[in-house]
Amino acid sequence: MAKVIRIGMLGFGTVGTGAYRMLEDNRVAITKKIGLPFEVVKIGIKDHTKDRGINDSLFTTDLNSIIEDPTIDVVMELIGGVDPAAELVEKALINGKHVVTANKELIAKHGSRLVHLAKSKGLDLHYEAAVGGGIPLIQPLKHQLAGNDVIRMMGILNGTTNYILTMMEEEQADFGVALAEAQAKGYAEADPTNDVEGIDTGYKISILASIAGGKQVPIEGIYREGITKLSITDIEYADSWGYKIKLLGISDFVGPDTVRVRIHPTMIKSSHPLASVNGVYNALWLHGDFVGDVMFSGRGAGSDPTGSAVIGDFLDVGRNIANGGSGSAIPYDLGMNTANMDDLETAYYLRMIVADQPNTLGEIAMVFGKYGISIAEMQMKTLPSNQGEIVFLTHEAVEREFQKALSEVAKLPCIVKVATFVRVDG
Ligand code: HSE
Repeated sequence: MAKVIRIGMLGFGTVGTGAYRMLEDNRVAITKKIGLPFEVVKIGIKDHTKDRGINDSLFTTDLNSIIEDPTIDVVMELIGGVDPAAELVEKALINGKHVVTANKELIAKHGSRLVHLAKSKGLDLHYEAAVGGGIPLIQPLKHQLAGNDVIRMMGILNGTTNYILTMMEEEQADFGVALAEAQAKGYAEADPTNDVEGIDTGYKISILASIAGGKQVPIEGIYREGITKLSITDIEYADSWGYKIKLLGISDFVGPDTVRVRIHPTMIKSSHPLASVNGVYNALWLHGDFVGDVMFSGRGAGSDPTGSAVIGDFLDVGRNIANGGSGSAIPYDLGMNTANMDDLETAYYLRMIVADQPNTLGEIAMVFGKYGISIAEMQMKTLPSNQGEIVFLTHEAVEREFQKALSEVAKLPCIVKVATFVRVDG
């Protein structure tokens, strides 16, 4: 009798239900492509009181019973977070099981160690679903693009924030309303702070940079800002100058084993391919020394697209099992250096609320001049109560100098508040 590949799932939330449904709905085609039948034999969950609409006997709250079951070949870790996922994945590998995971935090923090462990045991550890939902990004970086020096990557890697920014732009929607919709659609993290503060994007771009550079990027070396300080006003000013504002994860290799990884709202030209990636769509734009510019895009969050990426990895594992091959995990080491954000050279958008009085503009311009920052464009308008709004676009400047100028400007008596600044790319 042909072997049946036995699957144990850890977690049955947004991603787990999508992956399970795909296995069931496309069972015939997936079986044919693997060359062996498969069965989900256990699903580990936290709480057994809900009716999940499938065979109740599959569920267990004893997660260890899955990773210790000698008949299970493949574990799908779809819980998220590091605790207890890290220990469960490690034990599953030690127990000889292939692992497929959607867990970006786990891979960003422990990827090198876990992939080495998988490799040493001749097992697979795949994590396509950890970055960009349904878009294939990890496999192309590991395989088709691996001969390139991937000098630069810029990604819209969080569906929730892209959904929010798109709703703010297209429907003048309030931030809170847009976030609630993203949560209702199953895009947001359990704690949406991880989305809106750029933490989720940080895990994802650091995983991509680790693969591209062959060494794990230390999370503490990346620079991160979220989207909570942006307003519709900023989106409108950006538009008036021909830019869109997107939350980007950016990775620039600036020297041997040295990368600058940053996550922050970025103004990009409306003509840039990333500018038209809207709603829950994610995209990764990259430049490789031989391939040139490449862009991938697709749905970056949600049950079905992310489930699709999990099952893509499962097909890889299944084919390895069917062919009697050893695992195809591609290890990378620790030790990537991260470049200092202060040395970044970029242009800036800056919006200030000021006292509407003589010489306000002169005082501000003096400070920028002192730090060698040249103003490229400006808009000004009068507000009620003797106030005004001044908005600058600068030429390229050094981050360190811009930050010094910003804190000095903020202290000028004519400044009511520095409302926002956004880095401008291209
Ligand atoms: N919360 C994430 C997002 C889900 O919005 O993109 C996918 O990691």
